[in-house]
Amino acid sequence: MVKKLIEKYGTPLYIYYEEVIEKRIKKVKEVFKNVNFFPTFAVKANNNPNLLRIIHKNGFGMDILGEGELYACKLAGIPGDKIVWNGNGKTTKQKEKMKEYGVKYVNIDSVEEFENLWKNDDEFTLFLRVNPDIDAKTHPYISTGLKNHKFGVSFDLAEKILKTGKIQGLHIHIGSQITTIEPFKEAIEKTLELAQKYNINKINIGGGWGIKYKKEENELNLEKYKKEIIPILTNFEMVINEIGRFIIAPAGILAIKVILVKETENKNFVVTESGMNHLIRPALYNAYHEIEVLNNQEDNITADVVGPLCESGDFLAKNRKIKKPNPGDILIVKNVGAYGYSMANNYNGTTRPVEILIKKDGKDLIIRKGEEISDLYKNVII
Ligand code: LLP
Repeated sequence: MVKKLIEKYGTPLYIYYEEVIEKRIKKVKEVFKNVNFFPTFAVKANNNPNLLRIIHKNGFGMDILGEGELYACKLAGIPGDKIVWNGNGKTTKQKEKMKEYGVKYVNIDSVEEFENLWKNDDEFTLFLRVNPDIDAKTHPYISTGLKNHKFGVSFDLAEKILKTGKIQGLHIHIGSQITTIEPFKEAIEKTLELAQKYNINKINIGGGWGIKYKKEENELNLEKYKKEIIPILTNFEMVINEIGRFIIAPAGILAIKVILVKETENKNFVVTESGMNHLIRPALYNAYHEIEVLNNQEDNITADVVGPLCESGDFLAKNRKIKKPNPGDILIVKNVGAYGYSMANNYNGTTRPVEILIKKDGKDLIIRKGEEISDLYKNVII
């Protein structure tokens, strides 16, 4: 199947499966079926409007950061009253755009933001992001709920804002790729006390659900989540979440071609056409992505799978045991639906790949063209 797609579209190629997206959404909805649930999808994980449309069709609103992600929602036809605006650096100009589109919900990140933008506002439904000072036990770059992180306000500062009576909901997001229940539970319990004190009956519990990147790992235990967390949410009149990775990561793969296999005295390198430009997670977080080699070889090789760019950090895997590839063979990098294309870049004058969607009926559709080299220079003035 993938081979046929590659013949048709070439490589590198991001491939998404509608069926997987819907399966993952079902899992999320099933957990929250006994609460007043308003699910949203974190557009930063994947901003292709065609995918957003599928997610919206399945009952989700969207969590966005700024005008760029708002634009993706516009293209996908998501109504403003299903959009939550997040971010720690909101501007007046952005606020105008959000208002124009009718964005309804906002998560306020600081006292200063409240003073600048929201103190006299009656048009948005205001949530306040609190920082519960909880260790999410994930990679430091994607952990957000400790008091020295830039996000949210402490409970003491929160009370100052809550006393104004302008806030309708509380928001927490303690980090991403969290695979244990405890940090979520602790953060929600802490926030609950504050909500009770100020009669707040709306809560946004953020995203962060972890998936299984390695075969031997477990994803977040949803049965346990249902048992231990859902009961403490049932009294709220609105429970929002903002899940990105859990829904879209397993729905995407990246197919890339091997350029050559370089064998040295110390190490082997599988050099591919894509590296940190098309998938930056390994370089940035030392993240693990499973890689499958599409060939009939019996022999294995232990190698670094690297890209063609001019940095030693340009790798997709380190010391990985894989089937020995030949030049021209295809590698499938898995679980790249989240923070894959959305973090891709043009480093070293490279272009971003094609994205395609496999519909439930098996049909393939191109949902984003690959970039042309001239696209990279279209804003240059000579
Ligand atoms: N809500 C807020 C306020 C967030 O900042 C994020 C992610 C989410 C929701 C969605 O989190 P998720 O359900 O996807 O874990 N680039 C990193 C992940 C950064 C996450 C940033 N915020 C990565 O590739 O692992």
